[in-house]
Order: sequence, then structure tokens, then C-alpha cells
Amino acid sequence: MKLTAAQVDEYQREGYLFFPGLFSSGEIGVLNAEVPKLYAEQRPENVREKGSAAVRTNFAAHTYNDAYRRLGQHPRLIEPAKQILGDDVYIHQFKINGKAAFDGDVWQWHQDYGTWFNDDDMPDARAMNVAVFLEDVNEFNGPLMFIPRSHKKGRQEAGHDLSTTSYPLWTIDNETITRLVAEGGIISPKGPAGSMMIFHCNLVHASGSNMTPWNRTIVYLSLNSCENHIRRFHRPEYIAHRDFTPIQCLADDCLKN
Ligand code: SIN
Ligand code: MN
Repeated sequence: MKLTAAQVDEYQREGYLFFPGLFSSGEIGVLNAEVPKLYAEQRPENVREKGSAAVRTNFAAHTYNDAYRRLGQHPRLIEPAKQILGDDVYIHQFKINGKAAFDGDVWQWHQDYGTWFNDDDMPDARAMNVAVFLEDVNEFNGPLMFIPRSHKKGRQEAGHDLSTTSYPLWTIDNETITRLVAEGGIISPKGPAGSMMIFHCNLVHASGSNMTPWNRTIVYLSLNSCENHIRRFHRPEYIAHRDFTPIQCLADDCLKN
């Protein structure tokens, strides 16, 4: 999938792009059929919510599940990232975030690059997230909140939050968020299952809890320029990958049965 020059400009300016309904219900059905099986497994790749059995994040499904292996090589996700970065890309991180009905907990305000810099020694902010909604995302079930244009400010000071949720994250303080929101406001991409969003690794984002009866499952590929691969290998391989081989795309119909 090739982005128009206007879309590339919009990404550079705003820090994100949103493509409502990009994947068909048949394609999403192939991915969704795997989620209950993946989440039911007892393995370290499943990180559960604090005090609950609900899966917060499943890591690295592309390394052990065929449908997600194909998603990890899908041209609708990979080609825009290569076009924007002007380089081959590899998967730095792959996660299926549950944000389960009633149990899905918050993600504090952060930049992904804060964590990738501090924990993994990723040299530059030449990486992005490409995410596909596996369920409808609405204003109630914990949509992502973006601060538009916040990526332009570079990496913000962050503190290592090891206590608030079940997953450690480098988070940004309230004063900084107040200042950034005063300038950029907050937006939330919302839309049907099959929608895709792309966002810069320095775009400041968060999400609230899910108190609704609707799951908000989203799969995220964190794609990094191959030249910009991480230099520190402290985190488990399934959280911060060490295979820097350029992704080879499959055909556009690779998710169709
Ligand atoms: C993330 O920021 O990495 C996840 C946020 C979410 O899934 O709500
Ligand atoms: Mn994030």
C-alpha cells in the first residue's frame, strides 16, 4: 500500500495517520479466531492485568502463530513504514493488547521511544507503531488518546513506572502532559474492527480503562528501521526482538483464506 504525498506530509506534521475499515471483516475474522487460543495459553508472552486473569498484552504472536506471522509481513502494514522511514524495517515489538471488557486497565501517558531508548538503547526515533483494530473502538472502551504534533518535541523526560499497572513503562509527568495538551489537544482514532492507525514513536499517547462490556483488542507492530536496531539486550527477546532481518512482504491477500 503506497501512501500519497499528502498522507506522508500529514504523518510528519501530526504524528499519526488513521485508515478506518482498511481490513475486511473476513481478514479480521482470521486474526480474531486466534485470540482466545493465544490468550488461554500459560506462557510468559501473556502479561495479565494486575489482580485479574485478563490478558493485558500478548507478545510476539508472529513468532508462533501462522495468522499473525502473515500479519507481520502484510504489505498494508509494512510498506507505509518503509516508505516513511526510507529504509527496510524489522519488527522491534509485536503485541496484541486485550483491554478486556470490564478488566482492561489504563496505559499511562508515554512515548514508546522513551521505553525503547531507556530499556533497549534504540539509537534514534526512526520507528513507528502500525496498529489494527480487531474489535470496534468507540469513545467508551478505552480508545487510544494521542496528543497531535507532540512527536515534534522530541523525547520527553520520563520516569520508570513499575507499580501502577502490571507492565513497566517509562511515563511522562502531569505538568508536561498539561503543557503538551494545551498546545496540541487530544484526539482519539475510533472506528470499526479492521481500521488501521500508524503513529510516530515519539507521539505522546495513553488510554483509559475499559469499563464497558466490549473488548477493545488491538494488534500493534512496532517497526524500526533496520539501521536503527537496538544495541542493548536486557529485556526478553519476545519483548524486544533481536532479529534485524528486513521484512519481506507477502501478497496483499495473504490473510484471506
Ligand atoms: C501502548 O501504548 O503501548 C498500548 C496502549 C493501548 O493499547 O491502549
Ligand atoms: Mn505505547
